[in-house]
Amino acid sequence: MSLKAAAAAVRRNAHAPYSNFQVGAAIRAASGTVYVGCNVENVAYPEGTCAEAGAIAAMVAAGETKLTEVYVIAGSPMPVSPCGGCRQKLAEFGAGEVPVTMGTTANDTEWHMTLSELLPGAFNKDHMDGA
Ligand code: THU
Repeated sequence: MSLKAAAAAVRRNAHAPYSNFQVGAAIRAASGTVYVGCNVENVAYPEGTCAEAGAIAAMVAAGETKLTEVYVIAGSPMPVSPCGGCRQKLAEFGAGEVPVTMGTTANDTEWHMTLSELLPGAFNKDHMDGA
C-alpha cells in the first residue's frame, strides 16, 4: 500500500466532530514499516491531537525513532499543511531532507516539501550546548 493510501485509509477513522476536518498521516520509518495516525479531537478542545502526533506515537511505541518519509492528507480543496507543533514533532525524528507530501482526498494536488523547508532554523539540541 502506498503512503498516500495508508494516510487516506486511516483518515477515515479520525475523530473530528468539532472541526469536521479529518486528517490522516502516514510515516515510513527506517525499517520500512509504515505507521499511521489520525486526528483525535476532544470536547475540551486543547486536548485534541493531530494526525501526525498519532503516527509518531505509533512509531515510537513500536520501538522506532527514525522516520524517512511523511504523507499528510485531508479532505479540503487544497492539501493540508502540518501545524507548527507537528513540524517540530516530526523534526524530532526526521532529518531535514525527509520528504513531506501534503495531499487531499478532494483531488490529485500534492505539495512536496522537506522537513527543513517546513521548519527552517528548527530548535535542536545544539541550541542548548553550553547553556
Ligand atoms: N490537524 C491535524 O491533524 N494535522 C494537521 O497537520 C493540521 C490540523 C487537525 C487538528 C484538528 O483536529 C483539525 O485538524 C482542525 O485543526
